[in-house]
Amino acid sequence: MSMKLFDLTGRTALITGSSRGLGRAMAEGLAGCGARVILNGTNAARLDSAVAEMTAAGYQALSAAFDVTDETAIRAAFEQFDADGIEVDILVNNAGIQFRKPMLELDTADWQRVIDVNLTSAFVIGREAAKRMATRGRGKVINIGSLTSDLARATVAPYTVAKGGIKMLTKAMAAEWGELGIQSNAIGPGYMLTDMNEALVNDPKFDAWVKGRTPMRRWGAPEELAGLAIFLAADASNYVSGQLIFADGGMASVL
Ligand SMILES: NC(=O)c1ccc[n+]([C@@H]2O[C@H](COP(=O)([O-])OP(=O)(O)OC[C@H]3O[C@@H](n4cnc5c(N)ncnc54)[C@H](O)[C@@H]3O)[C@@H](O)[C@H]2O)c1
Repeated sequence: MSMKLFDLTGRTALITGSSRGLGRAMAEGLAGCGARVILNGTNAARLDSAVAEMTAAGYQALSAAFDVTDETAIRAAFEQFDADGIEVDILVNNAGIQFRKPMLELDTADWQRVIDVNLTSAFVIGREAAKRMATRGRGKVINIGSLTSDLARATVAPYTVAKGGIKMLTKAMAAEWGELGIQSNAIGPGYMLTDMNEALVNDPKFDAWVKGRTPMRRWGAPEELAGLAIFLAADASNYVSGQLIFADGGMASVL
């Protein structure tokens, strides 16, 4: 009985930015609980090989290549899902980029690009997914925030603003879409070992700072986000909405 709460058999999950990194790890977690997963990214060849690897591992996976900042492409992708009879039950807004520069040197275009990829995309894709979830009276939206959803750090202002926005977008979705049967929640990963952080991991000073600042004294592994993604995608979280939950080794809880 209790494991049924985490069973995703018969559900379809779209995970943006999922050919690698945290998106891929969450896709594998959801697929491991029975979901069919749709991998997304901009590089069709990379997506095809990720789908092939997941299929070879026994998972149900397909791909939808589109840029999360291209509204026309997003609409076309959802229209194609409709035409193919694919219902997105679970949306994970994961695609994101980082751009490090002090604000005094930051161009407006770079500010805007980070906001578009990390925040506006979650609204646009969320809206397209939720329109369809609403007709079925059920759906799960999981937005990927960050420690910077709550805390600022020098040199990453647009990312901080975008991830702070993700926290409040999640609440706005919960406020408007709860009555439609849709739960919206966010995950705030701590410092995780992915390509996004390659330069930081290889910087001994930063590596020491992360380990010193994190109560668990280590970086997170991508697969350590899977459990939260499964919980928020599954019936286990049917009365949980509007929350931002950190998976950060305790970092956001300490000074
Ligand atoms: N790694 C961390 O420590 C960490 C911490 C907190 C939050 N996050 C967030 O987790 C998410 C995943 O990060 P990651 O570490 O796996 O990064 P990553 O760089 O390894 O992966 C990001 C993915 O997003 C995709 N992507 C980027 N721009 C896109 C676009 N315009 N359209 C479609 N896909 C696009 C990339 O192709 C890639 O697959 C991001 O939202 C990131 O901000 C990461």
